[in-house]
Amino acid sequence: MSLSTKYLGLDLKSPLIASSSPQNSKISYLRQLEDAGAAAVVLPSLFQEQIESRDEELSSASAKESDNNTATSNYFPASEIAPYGLGSDEYLNLIRLAKENLSIPVIASLNGATESDWVNYARLFQEAGASAIELNNYYVPYDFSMSGRDIEQHFISILSIVRQAVTIPVSVKLLPFMSSLGHYVNELKCKGADGFVLFNRVLQPDIDLLTLRLDNRLLLSSKQEMSLSMLWISLLAQNQKRQFSLAASTGVREVDDIIKYLLVGADVVMMTSVLLRHGPEYLKVLHDGLEKWVSSRGYSNLSELRGLMSKIWMAQEQGGGRKSYIKMLNAFQNAAV
Ligand SMILES: Cc1cc2nc3c(=O)[nH]c(=O)nc-3n(C[C@H](O)[C@H](O)[C@H](O)COP(=O)(O)O)c2cc1C
Repeated sequence: MSLSTKYLGLDLKSPLIASSSPQNSKISYLRQLEDAGAAAVVLPSLFQEQIESRDEELSSASAKESDNNTATSNYFPASEIAPYGLGSDEYLNLIRLAKENLSIPVIASLNGATESDWVNYARLFQEAGASAIELNNYYVPYDFSMSGRDIEQHFISILSIVRQAVTIPVSVKLLPFMSSLGHYVNELKCKGADGFVLFNRVLQPDIDLLTLRLDNRLLLSSKQEMSLSMLWISLLAQNQKRQFSLAASTGVREVDDIIKYLLVGADVVMMTSVLLRHGPEYLKVLHDGLEKWVSSRGYSNLSELRGLMSKIWMAQEQGGGRKSYIKMLNAFQNAAV
């Protein structure tokens, strides 16, 4: 029995991937992940803001040198926003070191939202040895003058630039809030995206009622967050002409969650919170649990089970998604009385 799979054209020994997280900037931690069974790792993101602040630092240093300019600038010093203490050069070095120290694929993550020079880092990622690039266009559309179409075109254009700059595979980490996600995914595919990660989590601050301030603390994910990713992977996996990979991300806590994601059609399953909670060695528990379940069901490889539930899910949507929805609401009312 084999757990091997393909993701973005890369051959992986299993579908288990450690997604982007602060710990993944340490080589010792990456090694632990590999030893525990990670089939690939995604490095923490290099953010557009890090790249731009570095460029500003360089140009302001040279301006100071030339005319002793004392004007203040409103850029963020790189040290303040580098999420895990890494500047852009150190990030490239991290890619090199990760490649040298690991035998599994290393996916580098490029994170930005507007079209400018940061996109050129895609080429530098490839030169540093990244096996693939995960593009993260984190953005909450607060500008109401932009239509949904404008926003899609904007991100499609960023993807096109990255695609043209590299020959390695490129995946897109998607936000769930697009009006027609399937159509958007098809367009990104046409512009060269090799795969999609569902989903990016959106910062959703709480309010501290004592101080009347926003509480921006990052909470680890909960199992309930899986359902949105499951729904969309299930629908996208039904695409007859699918020539892209699907990575499930968000909410995995135990082996059953991984199985569910595979059953709706995911090629790989990514996780961060569960590894931060239990440590990298927990991957072994998940790996062994998956192996046990697959063989106990008599499957000899993952393609025999992948997407089995996706067809049923799509049939429900096509054959009366609204009916099922109303039925579900009624069932709750009946149970409540
Ligand atoms: C502390 C922390 C840091 C993260 N940093 C990044 C990042 O740099 N880039 C990125 O694309 N995702 C980042 N993520 C999101 C994760 O990669 C993942 O998509 C998200 O946590 C959902 O997966 P999970 O439910 O398994 O945690 C981060 C998550 C956490 C908890």
